[in-house]
Amino acid sequence: MFSNIYRLGHCTELAIEEFKCLTGGGKIEVVDQWLFSDQVIDTNISGSVVFGGEILQKYNKSELKIEILHEFLSQYIQSNKETVKKIGISLPTKFSKNFLGVAKKAGAKKINIIKDQLPNYGHKKSVKNWLVITEIQHDVVVFSINSYSDQQFWSELDQKLPNNDMKRGIINIKLARSLVNLTKNSKLIDPFNGVGRLAISSLDKQKIWRLSDIDKVCEEQTMTNLEAANYLWKIKKNIITQDTITISTFDAKKISELEIDLSDFSVVTEGFLGFNPGRMLRDNEIKNEYDKLKDLWTQVLQSCQTKGIKEIIFCLPFYNITKKPITPDWIFEIAEQTNYNVNDLNGKKMILYKRAETKVGHAIIKLTV
Ligand SMILES: C[S@@+](CC[C@H](N)C(=O)[O-])C[C@H]1O[C@@H](n2cnc3c(N)ncnc32)[C@H](O)[C@@H]1O
Repeated sequence: MFSNIYRLGHCTELAIEEFKCLTGGGKIEVVDQWLFSDQVIDTNISGSVVFGGEILQKYNKSELKIEILHEFLSQYIQSNKETVKKIGISLPTKFSKNFLGVAKKAGAKKINIIKDQLPNYGHKKSVKNWLVITEIQHDVVVFSINSYSDQQFWSELDQKLPNNDMKRGIINIKLARSLVNLTKNSKLIDPFNGVGRLAISSLDKQKIWRLSDIDKVCEEQTMTNLEAANYLWKIKKNIITQDTITISTFDAKKISELEIDLSDFSVVTEGFLGFNPGRMLRDNEIKNEYDKLKDLWTQVLQSCQTKGIKEIIFCLPFYNITKKPITPDWIFEIAEQTNYNVNDLNGKKMILYKRAETKVGHAIIKLTV
């Protein structure tokens, strides 16, 4: 039996891949939106793992009697009396009969029971200790939550950037964080930097960043954003950022013209997603967009190859996200021509990251030499 369980975010493939990168591999098992592992991570370092916990018991669903759960709860509270005076319990309605009474009798003073739902960030904020009893396929798994991604911090970071509209990509800070977590390298280039969300999402990671964008206005906007973000990281997370960041203006196609050694840097970028009118694009518009991006990325990859850059993590747009997605498969040909290998991301060549309200999704791709 694995000792830890993690709740994966809505893009499970990204969360799995991020988990693997953060833990350096190791055995895992994924069932629905759950990941089982023997490794422990604080889910706050990830962008797409929601919460994690220690598995306390696992029962076979068909053999489980409610009295066994009562017995477990009673013993759990009694042996953790000091820490679980106030306890939250999340469980299916069918197991909930008499739970309150059993918890009280065992010594819990304040008990918050939620039925048929997992604790959300608000629940976790108001009660520190949560015991979750949940059905996962043929099992009933009981675990205590030991880390919960600080949703409030991520959205504050997103919303409190002074420049968050001018060059708004559809990336959010948590996706930016996940992208950065897909590399182990500490020297990073974002050549489509916009207003700096990738660097901002990871100011605790002590990276060396070279940020650039074709648009000169991004330099100043990123600097102002970094100032605000440094302040938030400091007051909310007690992190005094140590990152070394340089910001400049140039065309990503011309990385090769920079007179500096970039061979030990990795590119991690959202990239340029092109025209995004907020509606479904027509077929001819998609073709048009892909033709332009194909030309752009052919030159960017050639430029990276010339500079000896060994790892490139980036996004391309994919369309028709709710039906049969139209994906930028043309990138594989360009990768081959420039001698980059397409990495497996959770068994696929690209991860399709979509959000309900968007018409264009992020296809996440990782190339290495
Ligand atoms: C989707 S936005 C990136 C948003 C960014 N991730 C952020 O956090 O703000 C794409 C950016 O690519 C830039 N861009 C487009 N073509 C470029 C090129 N050829 N070279 C460099 N930057 C380019 C645009 O100016 C824009 O800021």
